[in-house]
Amino acid sequence: MYDFKPSPDADSAESYRLLVDAADSLTSGEPDAIANMANVAALIWEFIPDLNWAGFYRMTEDRGEPELVLGPFVGRPACIRIPLGQGVCGTAAAQAKTQLIEDVHAFPGHIACDAASQSELVVPVVRDGCVIAVIDCDSPLPARFNQDDAAGLERLAEVLADRV
Ligand code: SME
Repeated sequence: MYDFKPSPDADSAESYRLLVDAADSLTSGEPDAIANMANVAALIWEFIPDLNWAGFYRMTEDRGEPELVLGPFVGRPACIRIPLGQGVCGTAAAQAKTQLIEDVHAFPGHIACDAASQSELVVPVVRDGCVIAVIDCDSPLPARFNQDDAAGLERLAEVLADRV
């Protein structure tokens, strides 16, 4: 049994340190990308408060053109395919750049998968200079995410770069 738990006394930076350490030890030496993404989605859900969706979209070319396809997640069923450059996730993937969105309704082209979502943080996972996936977190709270959250998920993405 795994017993990775957030500390009730931890501030945001410490919570992300604990999350990244837990993700590192859970995925270390495991070659199956789906298993690793599934466990990390569960860890994010457990460690980061006030989320209504947490998970992955993976880059694929299985229909000819590169696009994002839904990966392991926790939350309500979500849209399956996202073209590059569209929505918050497609923008993060196309620009290889973190998207910290305080108000999803103000983001042109935001793709609503859960009407409860008010703010969103999407971080690209980059391997050998290419975006291979994005980590997507949605919150029902407006302006839920800040630079500490972005830095924490970016560190997580670095650890996962050759494991997903
Ligand atoms: N809101 C995202 C779509 C994915 S869901 O949030 C799970 C977007 O605009 O790309």
